[in-house]
Amino acid sequence: MEKEKGVLFVVFGATGNLTKKKLIPGIYNLVKRKGIKKFKILGIARRPSSGHKIAMSGKKHIDGKIDSSAFSNVLANTHYVQMDFSESIDYVKLQQRIQKYESDGFANKVFYLATGSDKFEVISSNLKKIGVTKEKKCWTRVVYEKPFGKNLKSAKKLNACIHKIFDEKQIYRIDHYLGKELVENVLVLRFTNRVLEPVWNKYHVESISVVLDENVGIGERGAYYDSYGAVLDMVQNHMLQLLSLVTMEMPESFSGDFIQNKKAELLKNVRITKTLVGQYKGYTSESGIPKNSKTETFAAHLLKIKNPRWNGVPIYFRTGKFLGKKESKIVINFKPVKCLFDKTCPSNGNSLEIRLFPNPGIELILNSKSPGKQAARNIKMDFCYDCEYGPNTPEGYENLFKDILLGNQTTFTREDELFNSWKIVDKVSRGKLHKYSKKSTGPKALEKFNKNSGVRLA
Ligand SMILES: NC(=O)c1ccc[n+]([C@@H]2O[C@H](COP(=O)([O-])OP(=O)(O)OC[C@H]3O[C@@H](n4cnc5c(N)ncnc54)[C@H](OP(=O)(O)O)[C@@H]3O)[C@@H](O)[C@H]2O)c1
Repeated sequence: MEKEKGVLFVVFGATGNLTKKKLIPGIYNLVKRKGIKKFKILGIARRPSSGHKIAMSGKKHIDGKIDSSAFSNVLANTHYVQMDFSESIDYVKLQQRIQKYESDGFANKVFYLATGSDKFEVISSNLKKIGVTKEKKCWTRVVYEKPFGKNLKSAKKLNACIHKIFDEKQIYRIDHYLGKELVENVLVLRFTNRVLEPVWNKYHVESISVVLDENVGIGERGAYYDSYGAVLDMVQNHMLQLLSLVTMEMPESFSGDFIQNKKAELLKNVRITKTLVGQYKGYTSESGIPKNSKTETFAAHLLKIKNPRWNGVPIYFRTGKFLGKKESKIVINFKPVKCLFDKTCPSNGNSLEIRLFPNPGIELILNSKSPGKQAARNIKMDFCYDCEYGPNTPEGYENLFKDILLGNQTTFTREDELFNSWKIVDKVSRGKLHKYSKKSTGPKALEKFNKNSGVRLA
């Protein structure tokens, strides 16, 4: 019997925010749930550090009680190489380390680029130079963090460059929202429930909204954030990906390329028709932000999908930093039905809310008879995800790591989806930048924007 091959995770950007907050906890959870047994993590960055420090920095971000055996395993198997991504000479050190791990049985490789996309090209081409990109008797996969590029032109250029090095089947363009359980559940909800799919169209749906509000600012990520802003940081990837899952046509199967085919096809027909952008007061005094920055920290959009299923249905996006509350949800509002009572019926139709945060779950608003009255009122059927499955269901990055190990690209962004979403946001005309107070509901102009949107907003 062939001996089990170990996996080497080479993490570029190991001293960064993402590694400590998400990647170490993600790998730890995978180890805890026995999703991986034999592995090494090799962290890479410029400043002096160590495997011990990298693993310990991630420990603070692990949710719930720590399983000491799983964490000790992560700690013992995390190592570090100090190098500069731009220095070709430094890759010789890396090559030697990789060769050593290969001879010790860690031949399958995941190169995880937890860096800005301006570093993707230099890292990928140096990996090719040291001869570690080809798949011989093992597999080699490369993960690129989002955002991939800054617009369609740069995304295409970058993509062409990495395609000279890696085959599309080796490339995993990550969007961590796609690894969230409730997001993975969207297609199951839509396509395995006969009560939903027949009404999931313009004849029955009145409007759709996707809201990803945050109650914190940019934290330590000022320099990165200021060169992107809300539209590139959230809309181009997370929000359009969520929309594509909610509105795509039925795939032939939940495996292989079928889902990505349908998502790419849907995104071809999406247009942003109206935009409102804002910036929270005090943003330009934060570390790393130029005093005259015009970068938006808030964006609301109206969209439409030009296809037979969705023609004429208004779609609303909203995302922003430093708002009054953190909330992530997708809401499908259904058209109201005729009221058959003489007196009252709710003016609202049904609605289905897929709630990612807080209290992950699914909420269905139905109409029901008011007790003792000849009238109808809204009632709520609420499915609480944590109550059913416990609070520690797999988190986004853990699920995505699992998919990378399995070679499942369904939860990653294929190149055509990427290009189609850049085409959508490249056309956004931002207009006036509206200031808003921290912890508020956003710019004052939002009220009018919402009113005119034709979308029922809770
Ligand atoms: N943080 C998040 O929550 C989050 C969420 C989703 C996506 N992302 C994406 O993940 C990527 C990384 O984000 P981040 O927040 O972790 O950024 P970050 O905190 O700024 O970390 C950047 C990392 O890259 C290293 N680095 C930069 N230039 C280098 C060079 N020339 N040579 C060697 N190392 C270098 C830094 O190490 P030294 O400083 O030690 O050199 C650091 O480890 C970005 O694409 C971001 O969009 C982040």
